[in-house]
Amino acid sequence: MSRSAALAKTDSAGAEEMLSLLRQSLKSCRTPGETNFEGSTPHIFVILGASGDLAKKKIYPTMWWLYRDRLLPENTMFFGYARSALSVQQVRDKCDSYMKVKDAEKERYEQFWKTNYYVKGSYDTRRDFELLDQEMTKVGTPRANRIFYLALPPSVFDVVTSNLKGCCMGSQGWTRVIIEKPFGKDSVSSAKLSNHLAGLFKEEEIYRIDHYLGKEMVQNLMTLRFGNRIFGPTWNRDNIASVFISFKEPFGTQGRGGYFDEFGIIRDVMQNHLLQILCLVAMEKPCSTAADDIRDEKVKVLKSMRALTLKDVVLGQYVGDPEGEGDAKDGYLDDPTVPAGSVTPTYALAITTIHNERWDGVPFILRCGKALNERKAEVRIQYRDVAGDVFHGQSKRNELVIRVQPGEAIYCKVMTKTPGMSFGLEETELDLTYGDRYKGAKLPDAYERLILDVFCGSQMHFVRSDELAEAWRIFTPLLHKIEQEKPHPIPYKYGSRGPVEADQKLAENNFVYSGSYKWNKPSVL
Ligand code: BG6
Repeated sequence: MSRSAALAKTDSAGAEEMLSLLRQSLKSCRTPGETNFEGSTPHIFVILGASGDLAKKKIYPTMWWLYRDRLLPENTMFFGYARSALSVQQVRDKCDSYMKVKDAEKERYEQFWKTNYYVKGSYDTRRDFELLDQEMTKVGTPRANRIFYLALPPSVFDVVTSNLKGCCMGSQGWTRVIIEKPFGKDSVSSAKLSNHLAGLFKEEEIYRIDHYLGKEMVQNLMTLRFGNRIFGPTWNRDNIASVFISFKEPFGTQGRGGYFDEFGIIRDVMQNHLLQILCLVAMEKPCSTAADDIRDEKVKVLKSMRALTLKDVVLGQYVGDPEGEGDAKDGYLDDPTVPAGSVTPTYALAITTIHNERWDGVPFILRCGKALNERKAEVRIQYRDVAGDVFHGQSKRNELVIRVQPGEAIYCKVMTKTPGMSFGLEETELDLTYGDRYKGAKLPDAYERLILDVFCGSQMHFVRSDELAEAWRIFTPLLHKIEQEKPHPIPYKYGSRGPVEADQKLAENNFVYSGSYKWNKPSVL
């Protein structure tokens, strides 16, 4: 069984069986380009920015979970690097409350911290990186493979990567570098960063994380589409009316307003997470599951999309709900970290189209927003009306819904005869809710999957530089227009569905909301 097949195996056999399959398959990665875990080659995972928020809340916990589940190569060591003078114990104290350690795991947890090291250094001093290199060579020998995770602000990406290249490349093993958005702010700044990185590393050494690509249901899109005969023939403009990819969060900026205001919801969520999902929904079947075959197809989708304009979008910004509780009373502009009078959108709906033979004329609607009525991310494929309807307009459109979170599910809205004597019609669903069907299966966190992929050398779920350039080409003109013209976003109440103008835009773009159907949320959610 291939590593990816083992990762996908989440049946009722249970979490332990899945983990043991995964461990076995990691020893014999077979996908082209993947690294075999066999042997005792040491691995060093370095967290740059080890004293920061991302490190303590996300990266250290992820490394601990992978270590706890014995998914990492046996001889793996962890290095923290940051400007503050800290001991490993102090790093541990910062992380402890995020690690979710069970009583039975305490011994393993001690072992985990014993394999940790910390080096204090600044980001722009070559000498400090030389010291880091010496420490790594001392504990890991020159044979060790090295992975660097930049849990750092983008302002230091350039200098840090130059120093890594100058001082910290593995002399005998391989080196891989993980970076996370923001990858620039527009086409020009992103190209600058890409060129800088390309001057230092080979593309195979660069892992650009979009954590949505590590989510179970996003990874499932390829299986659903290309592992089933049933969907392929209808997956086109002849049968599909519109595709709606949506992300909602029920909370606002929560003190992150300073960062957020510089970027806005389009850069924060739409240009990356939603666009990546769109590519996986729309792409042609790749000629294999090799990372570059998949990414070639994703790039083709992006190349078939035109740049967006202000006419294509509805922009909103949340205001406080005086009747709401707690945070809901505050609007975006009440966040003290947000500059007064900011017109940065916290909600955006965009109509995009793909000019190719399969999708010409089908709106791909992207919607994302903060401080809305619920937490939900999903893909909703709405089919065209039944032709030659004999049920006097009672048939409602079919919808295939891929629910990314919360409560992973795939369900299909279909018409059925009302059970019993009646010959009437009613809407119901074919339902694959994971919590029901795969009880007890452990679905790893997106970061666990993605970081494990880096160890294996699989770039299937990472963003390639040409994908990134195309994504910016589509959004840069719109973003610049917003910055120049500063259109006032439509206010919407904290906890609402967002601006009503967005519903009108949906209706104008072949998305029919009948309001007559309610998905029966399974009790497991
Ligand atoms: C991040 C955005 O990339 O994704 C955040 O910067 C957003 O603003 C987050 O909250 C959502 O991720 P998830 O996994 O919680 O859906």
